[in-house]
Amino acid sequence: MAQYSEKVMDHFSNPRNVGEIPDADGVGEVGNPVCGDMMKFTIKVKDGILEDVKFLTFGCGAAIAVSSMVSEMAKGKTLEEALKITNKDVAKELDSLPKNKLHCSNLGADALHNAINDYLQKNEKNN
Ligand code: FES
Repeated sequence: MAQYSEKVMDHFSNPRNVGEIPDADGVGEVGNPVCGDMMKFTIKVKDGILEDVKFLTFGCGAAIAVSSMVSEMAKGKTLEEALKITNKDVAKELDSLPKNKLHCSNLGADALHNAINDYLQKNEKNN
């Protein structure tokens, strides 16, 4: 069985920022066709800063831990900073992930970036 770090276990057992922001400024969804896991991120933006970040993850334990960690890492950051969060950063913050679970961290970073890009696109249209 894969060995998970204490941080992964903590974020899996006690995930932060679970849910969906009802009047979200941006929504990002991704799925992995191989494992079938899905993630949805909703964000609230104020003055170029991620004021709130929430996620819903239908997936494996690592995917849940990744979503929770990504939401914590992104909250309070500028959009630019949050767009720079990579899957490697997430895995590092979780004190690493087993090799066969690295794709789970891709989902987290991608879902966050999609939500930010969704926000940026909507805002372009409004201006
Ligand atoms: Fe696919 Fe974790 S097994 S996201």
